[in-house]
Amino acid sequence: EKGGYASFMLKEIADQPKAVADTLLGRVDGSGTLHLDEVRIAPGVLREVDKVVVVACGTAFHAGMIAKYAIEHWTRLPCETELASEFRYRDPILDQRTLVVAISQSGETMDTLMAVRHAREQGAKVLAICNTNGSTIPRESDAVLYTHAGPEVAVASTKAFLTQLVACYLVALYLGQVRGTKWGDEIRTVVRQLSEMSGAVERVLGTMEPVRELARSLAGHDTVLFVGRHVGYPVALEGALKLKELAYMHAEGFAAGELKHGPIALIEEGLPVVVVVPSPRGRSVLHGKIVSNIQEIRARGARTVVIAEEGDDEVVPYADHLIRIPATPTLLQPLVATVPLQVFACELATARGNEVDQPRNLAKSVTVE
Ligand code: M6R
Repeated sequence: EKGGYASFMLKEIADQPKAVADTLLGRVDGSGTLHLDEVRIAPGVLREVDKVVVVACGTAFHAGMIAKYAIEHWTRLPCETELASEFRYRDPILDQRTLVVAISQSGETMDTLMAVRHAREQGAKVLAICNTNGSTIPRESDAVLYTHAGPEVAVASTKAFLTQLVACYLVALYLGQVRGTKWGDEIRTVVRQLSEMSGAVERVLGTMEPVRELARSLAGHDTVLFVGRHVGYPVALEGALKLKELAYMHAEGFAAGELKHGPIALIEEGLPVVVVVPSPRGRSVLHGKIVSNIQEIRARGARTVVIAEEGDDEVVPYADHLIRIPATPTLLQPLVATVPLQVFACELATARGNEVDQPRNLAKSVTVE
């Protein structure tokens, strides 16, 4: 039931701190070691893996894009992420040493299931990340890591996405742990930091009133653009997808570095542009670059909505609206940066008179190819 919320989506957004914590439960210990014996692929087999391929659709695909950054960073294994619907049609190169990670909330998405079948036919090992016990994709995979989001009813995925991210981090860190990469110390530190993310998501949820107000003020607009870099790029795509499916608005996500290669021509007076700013620590080169992007966008008259870490003062002069998120390790930022975008889309949809749990033309799980 909706538990007093006006929609399942609002309830599911509010459920996220618990969903994130539940997905870590029993899998992480205080010393920063992961216990994923439930992934019944022998450590020896995981050590032999020489390539990872992530397949998924929609929101799960955005989680998969973020998984690529995490897997390549912590394991030094090449990783590609591909839309499940494109995967088998290009005759991908797969063998016994390929680990395919299939991400699906429902476990019933036909495009993802067909990708899983194709991968196994080629001899690859398939690990499913799934939220629905006993569904088809985990049944047809070699192993499964369940996300513990609880049932997700609203068509627009929210808490499932955050738990898919957690599961992807766990897979990346576990592969790093099993294979013993040079990032061992960082892996143990990040495992501990992951345990703090539920609290960080909770803090973001407590500061959403200005985001809702902003959303209502934009209800009459036709277009919203989203830009990000590094893991902020998939977050921008996810923000745009939420807005399309819920508010029926034209929304597009771009990698900030691509703006100058075309999309900047779209910027005009008053156009809302949401910018996901990477942490000023860590990959700080990127931070400086995105600050220049915000300046360029604003100089062309756009209304900038900037999502930036607490304490990041450099962005302040260029932000028409500033949304603060807690400081987190670079790769974990999507867990907090996505939340304001979910709230934004939900509120904008409501302001436009749309039914948020059941958007037009969409089904919760897409069981046709
Ligand atoms: O059940 P799945 O995770 O396999 O579903 C994949 C997509 O259909 C799904 O994420 C879809 O994009 C959502 N409506 C997004 O909010």
